[in-house]
Amino acid sequence: MNLIKRLPKRMQRTFKTRNGETLSLRLMRPDDAQRLEDFFYKLSSETRWRRFHVLADNVSPEEVRRRALEMADVDNRTYQGAVVAVAGDRDNGEIIGVVRLSRPPGQPDSPEAEAAVVVRDDYHGQGVGTHLLRQLVPLARRMKVRTIVAVFQPDNENAIRLFRNLGLPYKMVVTQGVSKMYQQVDE
Ligand SMILES: CC(C)(COP(=O)(O)OP(=O)(O)OC[C@H]1O[C@@H](n2cnc3c(N)ncnc32)[C@H](O)[C@@H]1OP(=O)(O)O)[C@@H](O)C(=O)NCCC(=O)NCCS
Repeated sequence: MNLIKRLPKRMQRTFKTRNGETLSLRLMRPDDAQRLEDFFYKLSSETRWRRFHVLADNVSPEEVRRRALEMADVDNRTYQGAVVAVAGDRDNGEIIGVVRLSRPPGQPDSPEAEAAVVVRDDYHGQGVGTHLLRQLVPLARRMKVRTIVAVFQPDNENAIRLFRNLGLPYKMVVTQGVSKMYQQVDE
């Protein structure tokens, strides 16, 4: 059976955090830009550093807005796709976490895409990252991505374990102070 056909159209579902709160998962939409901006301001310095690999504490509000617009510019098919975990109303509630796949600029047919995941600090350890990661392979299949590349600081054991738990065949390459994990998605 074709797994893609069995996926809900907008990849929507709900799950309970370890604290018993119900969160929703759905595909990101371009109108999430403001919610992404609010989300960024709720991340600690360390979480921003681990997600973006740059110090992101003194970024101007204009730059944060510009980046949020860029990151919300998804079609979930070609360059960028993302699944968000949302509290409260599925369509308009606050973003608690994001898992994303991005193809390299100018390469809409690339078989390879970079994956990233980030969860708001006040929800860490609640299972949100695990639930978001479970959406990564369906998202990759939807986008026809065959190789998922995740980039970590080498000491980011929580995140590396989360990606390993996907159970996909992978190889790790350590280069220029970062660890890159290449995972193969079957068709
Ligand atoms: C990595 C990250 C996404 C994990 O999200 P999360 O929602 O806390 O993950 P989960 O709750 O599903 O936990 C995954 C595992 O890590 C452990 N863990 C995660 N964060 C933890 C924390 N702050 N303290 C203790 N344990 C933690 C959990 O106990 C769990 O282990 P288990 O499966 O053995 O129970 C989150 O820490 C994060 O946003 N980090 C910054 C961004 C980042 O590093 N991204 C990866 C590179 S792109």
